[in-house]
Amino acid sequence: MRFIPLQQRCTRLLGNHEGFCGIVQICRNRTRSAALVLVSLIIVMYSGFQIMYMPVEMNICQDPSKSKDSYLQNIDDNITIVTMYLNIGTFKKTSFFLFSKESYATDHYKNWLFSWGKLNNRVIAFFDDDDFIEQFRIKRAHLPDSFTKIVRISKDQLSAFKYKKQVEEINQHPSFSLSYPPDYTCTMDAKYDALEMALKMDDIKTSYVAWMDIGLFRRLQEEDPPFTLKVPSDFNSSKLGFSEVTSRKWLSQLTPREIYEKNVVWVAGGFVLGVKKVISEFITAYRNTARELLAQGLADTDQQVIASMYSPDMASKQKIDIMTYSCPRGSFSLYGHAYLYFCLPYICKASAECKTRSQKNPENYNHIHISSRHS
Ligand SMILES: *[C@@H]1O[C@H](CO)[C@@H](O)[C@H](O)[C@H]1NC(C)=O
Ligand SMILES: *[C@@H]1O[C@H](CO)[C@@H](O)[C@H](O)[C@H]1NC(C)=O
Repeated sequence: MRFIPLQQRCTRLLGNHEGFCGIVQICRNRTRSAALVLVSLIIVMYSGFQIMYMPVEMNICQDPSKSKDSYLQNIDDNITIVTMYLNIGTFKKTSFFLFSKESYATDHYKNWLFSWGKLNNRVIAFFDDDDFIEQFRIKRAHLPDSFTKIVRISKDQLSAFKYKKQVEEINQHPSFSLSYPPDYTCTMDAKYDALEMALKMDDIKTSYVAWMDIGLFRRLQEEDPPFTLKVPSDFNSSKLGFSEVTSRKWLSQLTPREIYEKNVVWVAGGFVLGVKKVISEFITAYRNTARELLAQGLADTDQQVIASMYSPDMASKQKIDIMTYSCPRGSFSLYGHAYLYFCLPYICKASAECKTRSQKNPENYNHIHISSRHS
Protein backbone atom coordinates (compact mmCIF):
# COMPACT_ATOMS: atom_id res chain seq x y z
CA MET A 1 0.00 0.00 0.00
CA ARG A 2 1.37 3.37 -0.95
CA PHE A 3 0.58 6.79 0.39
CA ILE A 4 2.18 9.60 -1.41
CA PRO A 5 2.22 12.20 1.39
CA LEU A 6 3.83 9.90 3.92
CA GLN A 7 6.32 8.61 1.38
CA GLN A 8 7.43 12.14 0.50
CA ARG A 9 7.81 13.01 4.12
CA CYS A 10 10.00 9.99 4.73
CA THR A 11 12.18 10.58 1.67
CA ARG A 12 12.74 14.11 2.88
CA LEU A 13 13.67 12.79 6.26
CA LEU A 14 16.22 10.36 4.84
CA GLY A 15 17.64 13.17 2.69
CA ASN A 16 18.24 15.35 5.73
CA HIS A 17 19.85 12.49 7.50
CA GLU A 18 22.41 12.03 4.72
CA GLY A 19 23.11 15.76 4.83
CA PHE A 20 23.94 15.52 8.50
CA CYS A 21 26.36 12.66 7.79
CA GLY A 22 28.15 14.81 5.21
CA ILE A 23 28.64 17.62 7.72
CA VAL A 24 30.07 15.23 10.25
CA GLN A 25 32.63 13.99 7.67
CA ILE A 26 33.97 17.48 6.85
CA CYS A 27 34.44 18.50 10.46
CA ARG A 28 36.28 15.38 11.48
CA ASN A 29 39.69 17.11 11.71
CA ARG A 30 38.47 19.83 13.98
CA THR A 31 37.63 17.86 17.02
CA ARG A 32 35.97 20.69 18.89
CA SER A 33 33.57 21.64 16.15
CA ALA A 34 32.99 18.00 15.39
CA ALA A 35 31.96 17.43 18.96
CA LEU A 36 29.71 20.50 18.77
CA VAL A 37 28.11 19.33 15.57
CA LEU A 38 27.62 15.88 17.03
CA VAL A 39 26.00 17.22 20.16
CA SER A 40 23.66 19.46 18.19
CA LEU A 41 22.99 16.58 15.85
CA ILE A 42 22.00 14.39 18.76
CA ILE A 43 19.77 17.12 20.16
CA VAL A 44 18.13 17.69 16.78
CA MET A 45 17.64 13.98 16.20
CA TYR A 46 16.38 13.45 19.72
CA SER A 47 13.82 16.25 19.57
CA GLY A 48 12.85 15.08 16.09
CA PHE A 49 12.25 11.67 17.51
CA GLN A 50 10.25 13.17 20.36
CA ILE A 51 7.99 15.00 17.91
CA MET A 52 7.64 11.94 15.70
CA TYR A 53 6.56 9.78 18.62
CA MET A 54 4.50 12.18 20.66
CA PRO A 55 1.31 10.48 21.80
CA VAL A 56 -1.82 12.49 21.02
CA GLU A 57 -4.66 12.57 23.50
CA MET A 58 -8.10 11.88 22.01
CA ASN A 59 -11.15 12.55 24.09
CA ILE A 60 -13.87 10.22 22.96
CA CYS A 61 -16.31 10.68 25.80
CA GLN A 62 -19.43 12.60 25.06
CA ASP A 63 -20.62 15.57 27.05
CA PRO A 64 -24.20 14.52 27.88
CA SER A 65 -25.44 18.12 28.21
CA LYS A 66 -24.51 18.74 24.57
CA SER A 67 -26.06 15.78 22.85
CA LYS A 68 -28.33 13.89 25.15
CA ASP A 69 -30.37 12.53 22.27
CA SER A 70 -27.61 10.77 20.43
CA TYR A 71 -26.39 9.40 23.73
CA LEU A 72 -29.76 7.83 24.32
CA GLN A 73 -30.00 6.76 20.70
CA ASN A 74 -26.91 4.62 21.13
CA ILE A 75 -27.96 3.14 24.45
CA ASP A 76 -28.02 -0.28 22.76
CA ASP A 77 -24.38 0.08 21.92
CA ASN A 78 -23.17 -3.52 22.09
CA ILE A 79 -21.49 -4.86 18.98
CA THR A 80 -21.33 -8.43 17.73
CA ILE A 81 -17.96 -8.93 16.07
CA VAL A 82 -17.62 -11.10 12.97
CA THR A 83 -14.24 -12.33 11.78
CA MET A 84 -12.72 -14.97 9.55
CA TYR A 85 -9.38 -16.60 9.00
CA LEU A 86 -8.64 -18.82 6.01
CA ASN A 87 -5.40 -20.72 5.78
CA ILE A 88 -4.08 -19.80 2.34
CA GLY A 89 -0.47 -20.74 3.04
CA THR A 90 2.58 -18.59 3.44
CA PHE A 91 3.47 -15.78 1.13
CA LYS A 92 5.21 -12.45 1.27
CA LYS A 93 3.25 -9.28 1.06
CA THR A 94 5.57 -6.43 0.26
CA SER A 95 4.12 -3.24 1.53
CA PHE A 96 5.29 0.31 2.02
CA PHE A 97 9.09 0.53 1.83
CA LEU A 98 9.71 1.61 5.41
CA PHE A 99 7.81 -1.39 6.65
CA SER A 100 9.41 -4.75 6.57
CA LYS A 101 8.00 -7.41 4.32
CA GLU A 102 5.32 -9.18 6.21
CA SER A 103 5.10 -12.85 5.76
CA TYR A 104 1.50 -13.94 5.85
CA ALA A 105 1.78 -17.33 7.45
CA THR A 106 -0.58 -19.12 9.78
CA ASP A 107 1.92 -18.80 12.63
CA HIS A 108 1.95 -15.08 12.14
CA TYR A 109 -1.82 -14.85 12.52
CA LYS A 110 -1.76 -17.20 15.50
CA ASN A 111 0.46 -14.71 17.30
CA TRP A 112 -2.27 -12.14 16.89
CA LEU A 113 -4.93 -14.36 18.45
CA PHE A 114 -4.11 -13.35 22.02
CA SER A 115 -6.05 -10.09 21.61
CA TRP A 116 -9.23 -12.10 20.97
CA GLY A 117 -8.89 -13.56 24.45
CA LYS A 118 -9.16 -10.01 25.80
CA LEU A 119 -12.17 -9.02 23.73
CA ASN A 120 -15.36 -9.01 25.81
CA ASN A 121 -17.77 -8.80 22.88
CA ARG A 122 -19.83 -11.55 21.33
CA VAL A 123 -17.87 -12.99 18.43
CA ILE A 124 -18.86 -15.08 15.41
CA ALA A 125 -15.72 -16.50 13.79
CA PHE A 126 -15.33 -18.41 10.54
CA PHE A 127 -12.26 -20.65 10.24
CA ASP A 128 -11.09 -23.38 7.88
CA ASP A 129 -8.12 -24.48 9.97
CA ASP A 130 -8.62 -26.93 12.86
CA ASP A 131 -5.53 -25.88 14.72
CA PHE A 132 -6.60 -22.26 14.48
CA ILE A 133 -10.08 -23.17 15.80
CA GLU A 134 -8.45 -24.91 18.76
CA GLN A 135 -6.23 -21.92 19.56
CA PHE A 136 -9.15 -19.51 19.28
CA ARG A 137 -11.26 -21.65 21.63
CA ILE A 138 -8.48 -21.76 24.21
CA LYS A 139 -8.03 -17.99 24.07
CA ARG A 140 -11.73 -17.40 24.73
CA ALA A 141 -12.35 -20.28 27.13
CA HIS A 142 -12.71 -17.96 30.16
CA LEU A 143 -15.60 -16.01 28.58
CA PRO A 144 -19.28 -17.09 28.70
CA ASP A 145 -20.04 -19.76 26.07
CA SER A 146 -22.55 -17.51 24.35
CA PHE A 147 -19.76 -15.00 23.57
CA THR A 148 -17.99 -17.23 21.06
CA LYS A 149 -19.48 -18.95 18.07
CA ILE A 150 -17.02 -20.70 15.76
CA VAL A 151 -18.18 -21.82 12.35
CA ARG A 152 -16.05 -24.23 10.38
CA ILE A 153 -16.04 -23.18 6.78
CA SER A 154 -14.32 -24.15 3.55
CA LYS A 155 -13.38 -21.88 0.70
CA ASP A 156 -15.90 -23.44 -1.68
CA GLN A 157 -18.72 -22.23 0.57
CA LEU A 158 -17.65 -18.64 -0.04
CA SER A 159 -18.84 -17.11 -3.28
CA ALA A 160 -15.72 -14.92 -3.56
CA PHE A 161 -13.66 -17.99 -4.44
CA LYS A 162 -15.83 -18.71 -7.49
CA TYR A 163 -14.02 -15.82 -9.14
CA LYS A 164 -10.52 -17.05 -8.40
CA LYS A 165 -9.79 -17.95 -12.04
CA GLN A 166 -10.73 -14.49 -13.23
CA VAL A 167 -8.59 -12.89 -10.53
CA GLU A 168 -5.73 -15.14 -11.60
CA GLU A 169 -6.01 -14.02 -15.20
CA ILE A 170 -6.06 -10.35 -14.18
CA ASN A 171 -3.06 -10.95 -11.92
CA GLN A 172 -1.06 -12.34 -14.83
CA HIS A 173 -1.62 -9.22 -16.88
CA PRO A 174 1.66 -7.26 -17.07
CA SER A 175 0.04 -3.93 -16.11
CA PHE A 176 -0.89 -5.44 -12.74
CA SER A 177 1.81 -6.08 -10.22
CA LEU A 178 -0.01 -7.40 -7.20
CA SER A 179 2.41 -8.74 -4.67
CA TYR A 180 0.00 -11.34 -3.37
CA PRO A 181 -1.69 -14.41 -4.85
CA PRO A 182 -5.32 -14.60 -6.10
CA ASP A 183 -6.26 -16.46 -2.91
CA TYR A 184 -5.51 -13.32 -0.93
CA THR A 185 -7.76 -11.19 -3.15
CA CYS A 186 -10.54 -13.78 -2.80
CA THR A 187 -10.09 -13.96 0.98
CA MET A 188 -10.43 -10.20 1.31
CA ASP A 189 -13.56 -10.31 -0.83
CA ALA A 190 -14.94 -13.25 1.16
CA LYS A 191 -15.21 -11.20 4.35
CA TYR A 192 -18.50 -9.90 2.95
CA ASP A 193 -19.65 -13.49 2.32
CA ALA A 194 -18.87 -14.37 5.93
CA LEU A 195 -20.55 -11.21 7.18
CA GLU A 196 -23.67 -12.09 5.19
CA MET A 197 -23.71 -15.63 6.61
CA ALA A 198 -23.39 -14.22 10.13
CA LEU A 199 -26.27 -11.80 9.56
CA LYS A 200 -28.50 -14.71 8.53
CA MET A 201 -27.82 -16.57 11.77
CA ASP A 202 -30.03 -16.24 14.82
CA ASP A 203 -26.99 -15.69 17.00
CA ILE A 204 -26.81 -11.94 16.58
CA LYS A 205 -28.59 -10.42 19.57
CA THR A 206 -27.21 -6.91 19.16
CA SER A 207 -28.34 -4.13 16.83
CA TYR A 208 -24.78 -3.38 15.80
CA VAL A 209 -22.44 -5.71 14.00
CA ALA A 210 -18.84 -5.13 13.03
CA TRP A 211 -16.49 -6.95 10.76
CA MET A 212 -13.02 -7.12 12.31
CA ASP A 213 -9.85 -8.55 10.75
CA ILE A 214 -7.96 -11.02 12.95
CA GLY A 215 -4.95 -8.75 13.47
CA LEU A 216 -6.57 -5.41 14.29
CA PHE A 217 -5.59 -5.37 17.95
CA ARG A 218 -2.16 -6.91 17.42
CA ARG A 219 -0.53 -3.81 18.92
CA LEU A 220 -1.94 -4.67 22.34
CA GLN A 221 0.48 -6.20 24.82
CA GLU A 222 0.01 -9.49 26.63
CA GLU A 223 -0.25 -7.62 29.93
CA ASP A 224 -2.93 -5.15 28.74
CA PRO A 225 -6.34 -5.47 30.44
CA PRO A 226 -9.41 -6.97 28.71
CA PHE A 227 -11.42 -4.60 26.55
CA THR A 228 -14.84 -4.13 24.99
CA LEU A 229 -15.86 -2.46 21.75
CA LYS A 230 -18.90 -0.18 21.84
CA VAL A 231 -20.53 2.09 19.31
CA PRO A 232 -19.09 5.64 19.40
CA SER A 233 -21.74 8.04 20.71
CA ASP A 234 -21.65 10.20 17.56
CA PHE A 235 -22.19 7.26 15.20
CA ASN A 236 -25.05 7.69 12.74
CA SER A 237 -26.68 4.27 12.48
CA SER A 238 -28.04 5.04 9.00
CA LYS A 239 -24.45 4.92 7.80
CA LEU A 240 -21.63 2.44 7.68
CA GLY A 241 -18.51 3.27 9.72
CA PHE A 242 -14.92 2.89 8.53
CA SER A 243 -11.45 4.24 9.41
CA GLU A 244 -10.25 6.75 6.87
CA VAL A 245 -6.78 6.23 5.42
CA THR A 246 -6.65 8.90 2.69
CA SER A 247 -8.83 11.97 2.64
CA ARG A 248 -11.69 11.59 0.17
CA LYS A 249 -10.66 14.72 -1.71
CA TRP A 250 -7.60 12.83 -2.98
CA LEU A 251 -10.00 10.50 -4.73
CA SER A 252 -12.30 13.12 -6.12
CA GLN A 253 -10.69 13.07 -9.56
CA LEU A 254 -9.98 9.35 -9.90
CA THR A 255 -11.71 6.72 -11.99
CA PRO A 256 -11.93 3.16 -10.63
CA ARG A 257 -9.14 2.09 -13.02
CA GLU A 258 -6.86 4.81 -11.62
CA ILE A 259 -7.72 3.73 -8.09
CA TYR A 260 -6.52 0.22 -8.94
CA GLU A 261 -3.45 1.36 -10.85
CA LYS A 262 -2.34 3.79 -8.14
CA ASN A 263 -3.36 1.37 -5.39
CA VAL A 264 -5.38 4.06 -3.64
CA VAL A 265 -6.95 3.31 -0.26
CA TRP A 266 -9.72 5.58 0.94
CA VAL A 267 -11.04 3.63 3.93
CA ALA A 268 -9.46 0.65 5.70
CA GLY A 269 -11.20 -2.66 5.06
CA GLY A 270 -10.25 -4.20 8.39
CA PHE A 271 -13.13 -2.83 10.49
CA VAL A 272 -16.68 -2.13 9.31
CA LEU A 273 -19.39 -0.99 11.73
CA GLY A 274 -23.11 -0.80 11.15
CA VAL A 275 -26.59 -2.02 11.95
CA LYS A 276 -27.70 -5.24 10.25
CA LYS A 277 -29.96 -3.65 7.65
CA VAL A 278 -27.33 -1.14 6.52
CA ILE A 279 -24.62 -3.81 6.32
CA SER A 280 -26.92 -6.08 4.26
CA GLU A 281 -27.66 -3.34 1.78
CA PHE A 282 -24.01 -2.45 1.56
CA ILE A 283 -23.03 -6.08 0.89
CA THR A 284 -25.34 -6.20 -2.12
CA ALA A 285 -23.88 -2.99 -3.53
CA TYR A 286 -20.32 -4.09 -2.72
CA ARG A 287 -20.79 -7.39 -4.51
CA ASN A 288 -22.34 -5.86 -7.61
CA THR A 289 -19.46 -3.40 -7.85
CA ALA A 290 -16.78 -6.04 -7.25
CA ARG A 291 -18.18 -8.20 -10.08
CA GLU A 292 -18.53 -5.19 -12.37
CA LEU A 293 -14.90 -4.20 -11.75
CA LEU A 294 -13.75 -7.77 -12.25
CA ALA A 295 -15.46 -7.79 -15.64
CA GLN A 296 -13.45 -4.65 -16.45
CA GLY A 297 -10.25 -6.48 -15.58
CA LEU A 298 -9.81 -4.92 -12.12
CA ALA A 299 -9.04 -7.01 -9.05
CA ASP A 300 -7.16 -6.24 -5.85
CA THR A 301 -8.68 -6.05 -2.35
CA ASP A 302 -11.95 -4.91 -0.79
CA GLN A 303 -10.34 -1.52 -0.19
CA GLN A 304 -10.08 -0.75 -3.90
CA VAL A 305 -13.66 -1.93 -4.43
CA ILE A 306 -14.93 0.47 -1.76
CA ALA A 307 -12.82 3.39 -3.01
CA SER A 308 -14.24 2.74 -6.50
CA MET A 309 -17.82 2.55 -5.21
CA TYR A 310 -17.53 6.07 -3.82
CA SER A 311 -15.47 7.51 -6.67
CA PRO A 312 -17.21 10.13 -8.86
CA ASP A 313 -18.09 7.51 -11.52
CA MET A 314 -20.05 5.31 -9.13
CA ALA A 315 -20.90 7.37 -6.04
CA SER A 316 -24.33 8.44 -7.26
CA LYS A 317 -25.41 4.75 -7.38
CA GLN A 318 -24.71 4.20 -3.68
CA LYS A 319 -27.64 4.16 -1.28
CA ILE A 320 -25.49 3.69 1.83
CA ASP A 321 -23.45 6.62 3.09
CA ILE A 322 -20.13 6.02 4.73
CA MET A 323 -19.13 7.71 7.96
CA THR A 324 -15.39 7.93 8.24
CA TYR A 325 -13.32 8.29 11.38
CA SER A 326 -9.78 9.60 11.18
CA CYS A 327 -7.32 9.74 14.03
CA PRO A 328 -4.30 12.03 14.24
CA ARG A 329 -0.89 10.39 14.22
CA GLY A 330 0.03 9.31 17.74
CA SER A 331 -3.53 8.85 18.96
CA PHE A 332 -3.87 5.74 21.15
CA SER A 333 -0.04 5.71 20.88
CA LEU A 334 -0.37 4.39 17.33
CA TYR A 335 2.21 5.34 14.70
CA GLY A 336 3.28 4.01 11.32
CA HIS A 337 0.18 2.93 9.45
CA ALA A 338 -1.60 1.82 12.57
CA TYR A 339 -3.18 5.17 13.54
CA LEU A 340 -4.89 5.25 10.12
CA TYR A 341 -5.93 1.64 9.75
CA PHE A 342 -6.93 0.95 13.37
CA CYS A 343 -8.64 4.28 14.11
CA LEU A 344 -12.31 3.28 14.38
CA PRO A 345 -11.77 0.05 16.37
CA TYR A 346 -9.65 2.00 18.88
CA ILE A 347 -12.36 4.67 19.10
CA CYS A 348 -14.87 1.86 19.81
CA LYS A 349 -12.55 0.56 22.52
CA ALA A 350 -12.23 4.04 24.04
CA SER A 351 -16.01 4.53 23.80
CA ALA A 352 -16.56 1.47 25.96
CA GLU A 353 -13.97 2.71 28.43
CA CYS A 354 -15.47 6.17 28.83
CA LYS A 355 -18.97 4.78 29.20
CA THR A 356 -17.77 2.56 32.03
CA ARG A 357 -16.07 5.57 33.61
CA SER A 358 -19.13 7.79 33.29
CA GLN A 359 -21.32 5.14 34.93
CA LYS A 360 -18.96 5.07 37.89
CA ASN A 361 -18.57 8.82 38.01
CA PRO A 362 -21.30 10.71 36.12
CA GLU A 363 -19.68 14.16 36.64
CA ASN A 364 -16.44 13.18 35.00
CA TYR A 365 -17.14 13.72 31.31
CA ASN A 366 -14.66 14.81 28.72
CA HIS A 367 -15.67 16.83 25.75
CA ILE A 368 -15.92 15.12 22.47
CA HIS A 369 -12.92 15.81 20.31
CA ILE A 370 -12.75 13.30 17.53
CA SER A 371 -12.51 14.08 13.90
CA SER A 372 -15.29 12.09 12.36
CA ARG A 373 -16.50 13.25 9.02
CA HIS A 374 -20.04 12.88 7.90
CA SER A 375 -19.63 12.20 4.23
C1 LIG B 1 -24.67 -5.28 26.38
O1 LIG B 1 -23.70 -6.18 26.87
C2 LIG B 1 -23.57 -6.19 28.28
C3 LIG B 1 -22.40 -7.06 28.67
O2 LIG B 1 -22.22 -8.09 27.78
C4 LIG B 1 -24.87 -6.66 28.89
O3 LIG B 1 -24.79 -6.66 30.29
C5 LIG B 1 -25.99 -5.71 28.43
O4 LIG B 1 -27.22 -6.18 28.92
C6 LIG B 1 -26.02 -5.62 26.94
N1 LIG B 1 -26.98 -4.59 26.55
C7 LIG B 1 -27.93 -4.78 25.66
C8 LIG B 1 -28.84 -3.62 25.40
O5 LIG B 1 -28.08 -5.84 25.05
C1 LIG C 1 -27.64 10.17 9.41
O1 LIG C 1 -27.42 9.69 8.11
C2 LIG C 1 -28.54 9.84 7.25
C3 LIG C 1 -28.24 9.08 5.96
O2 LIG C 1 -26.96 9.21 5.52
C4 LIG C 1 -28.82 11.30 7.05
O3 LIG C 1 -29.90 11.48 6.17
C5 LIG C 1 -29.12 11.93 8.40
O4 LIG C 1 -29.29 13.31 8.26
C6 LIG C 1 -27.97 11.65 9.36
N1 LIG C 1 -28.37 12.09 10.70
C7 LIG C 1 -27.62 12.89 11.44
C8 LIG C 1 -28.16 13.21 12.79
O5 LIG C 1 -26.57 13.37 11.04
